[in-house]
Amino acid sequence: MTPQKKISLTRYLVEQQRIDGLIPGQLRLLLEVVARACKSISHAVNKGALGGVLGTAHSENVQGEVQKKLDIIANEVLIEANEWGGHLAGMASEEMDAIYVVPNRYPKGEYLLLFDPLDGSSNIDVNVSIGTIFSVLHMPEDDRGVDEGDFLQPGKRQVAAGYCVYGPQTTLVLTVGDGVAMFTLDREQGSFVLTQENVRIPADTQEFAINMSNMRHWASPVRRYIDECLQGRDGPREKDFNMRWIASMVADVHRIMTRGGIFLYPWDKREPGKPGKLRLMYEANPMAWLVEQAGGAATNGKERILDIQPTKLHERVSVILGSKNEVERVTSYHSEL
Ligand code: AHG
Ligand code: MN
Ligand code: MN
Repeated sequence: MTPQKKISLTRYLVEQQRIDGLIPGQLRLLLEVVARACKSISHAVNKGALGGVLGTAHSENVQGEVQKKLDIIANEVLIEANEWGGHLAGMASEEMDAIYVVPNRYPKGEYLLLFDPLDGSSNIDVNVSIGTIFSVLHMPEDDRGVDEGDFLQPGKRQVAAGYCVYGPQTTLVLTVGDGVAMFTLDREQGSFVLTQENVRIPADTQEFAINMSNMRHWASPVRRYIDECLQGRDGPREKDFNMRWIASMVADVHRIMTRGGIFLYPWDKREPGKPGKLRLMYEANPMAWLVEQAGGAATNGKERILDIQPTKLHERVSVILGSKNEVERVTSYHSEL
């Protein structure tokens, strides 16, 4: 039997460009560079204590969160990899207050890259899966300099989105609007290899992911939904549910991409002025698009996440995503208020 030919990420992207005309050359380059950066972050993550990358950096980001060393390392890796290639006009990151404009010494490209360089920071030091999330937008067409307003586009305008999960395997998951593909890092070859195409999330599930310790703070539609799940076979859902919470959005979403499920990080009463914990532009939007591209759904309880018009870079949002029928159920509970 002849061994099956391995399709590298490079080849996959070239074919998307050549055969399907789905991605322009500059976007292909951008995605290759992001993948290379993820590979380098993966190596740093794997070294752990041996690489001196664990622990806190004793600084805070714009969201008032204490930064871990790896938050900062991953941010720098992504910026250094992307700033000189000529494919970007600017970048934005969870770890930077303001946008990063590509320095004048480099050519400017037509894309904007947004990222959560290291998602799941609380899991770094305990050796649990973490990841990188990214979103790509087109620079609005005019010739003035890039500013924050250029980034404030709804998620439905993304031209590419993905994440890389650093777990037992390093897996890159990508969409350019033509379904979702998964690539596994082959460490011996040093390249990402296509391991799944046309990823589909089943419409129904019996598995939910939510931080239950916040239960007393939830709004009533979320309480009702989880309460009904907890009643299991004897309750209105007439089936038992399982619960998983990894506390890395990347890892929780990856499980849903692999076998279905629903993920919720809803608004809660702890900080009623904040719409939620997760950030719209570089956490919710890319994940929402990936999930929709795999046949799932993503809302904030009231509207489709991809339709939300952002008003600021680090805007937060309530997130409900995953298996379509469950997301629609929770969303309908919100309108019955
Ligand atoms: P980040 O590490 O980028 O700040 O994101 C952490 C997020 C997300 O990955 C996860 O779903 C959530 O925070 C976990 O929150 P809890 O600590 O409340 O469980
Ligand atoms: Mn995050
Ligand atoms: Mn982060």
